Amino acid sequence: MMMLSSKNERLNKVIAASGLCSRRKADELIAQGVVKVNGVKITEQGFKVPNPLSDTIEVNGRALRVQQTIRTVAFYKPAGVITTRNDELGRKTIYDVLPEELHHLDPAGRLDRKTAGLIFLSNDGDFLYQMTHPKYSLPKVYRVRLNVPPANSDALAAKLLEGVFFEEEQKWAKAEEVFQILPDTYGVTLVTGMNRQVRRMFEVLGFDVINLKRVSIGSFVLSGLQPGEWRDVKFAEMKSLLKAKPQKLKAPQKESSEKNLPKAVPDRS
Ligand code: URA
Repeated sequence: MMMLSSKNERLNKVIAASGLCSRRKADELIAQGVVKVNGVKITEQGFKVPNPLSDTIEVNGRALRVQQTIRTVAFYKPAGVITTRNDELGRKTIYDVLPEELHHLDPAGRLDRKTAGLIFLSNDGDFLYQMTHPKYSLPKVYRVRLNVPPANSDALAAKLLEGVFFEEEQKWAKAEEVFQILPDTYGVTLVTGMNRQVRRMFEVLGFDVINLKRVSIGSFVLSGLQPGEWRDVKFAEMKSLLKAKPQKLKAPQKESSEKNLPKAVPDRS
């Protein structure tokens, strides 16, 4: 957890603390002249907000809700819930699982409905930006269970590493690392985040993914949590997860949680 001082805090930091955007993006907004503090337009980089928690800060005419405590949590998203604030079809979302005290946090990226595993939520605009922007290319490791064990595991791994073509985007999608855990189960590391990338890569190669779980992001490993559980991420963990290499899954890994998916969450796909 990081705290915002209650006096004289840099304007870009205060804007980022509202979760609106990163500090760098806030600098751009300030330069564009769309930021007001207590009704006065501010274009000076490095401007200090006298009372960040009580002064009125507006961006493009919209008042920000600045919070003193910048908070980031790691959440074990259960399968069957959607990574969104409101689902237009009224389906269950991550906020139906998370306690109200965390409802002001936004997810850093998304996992599709059927996919379980690690996702961060934060109100730190800098962190959300770094976690989702392609230029940071954080490695993400997935545990993937297939409908059938492949006849030729080496050939499958080679194709995933080489890349498969996604007709829809007219783009190649590739895995950074592939390792077999069990005859029908793989660990796959991605540094790109195309829509449903893991499932679609295997689909192109003729397999159905019957269980998908994200087990790590950067150096941060999902351990000690059960589906639906969360914990605060320390500031030092946040810093190091952006730098460190991912940790490899041990093979074979016992998966108690996979057998234990929450029954309260029906899979309606
Ligand atoms: N790949 C998928 O197929 N789904 C996810 O949620 C994430 C990666």
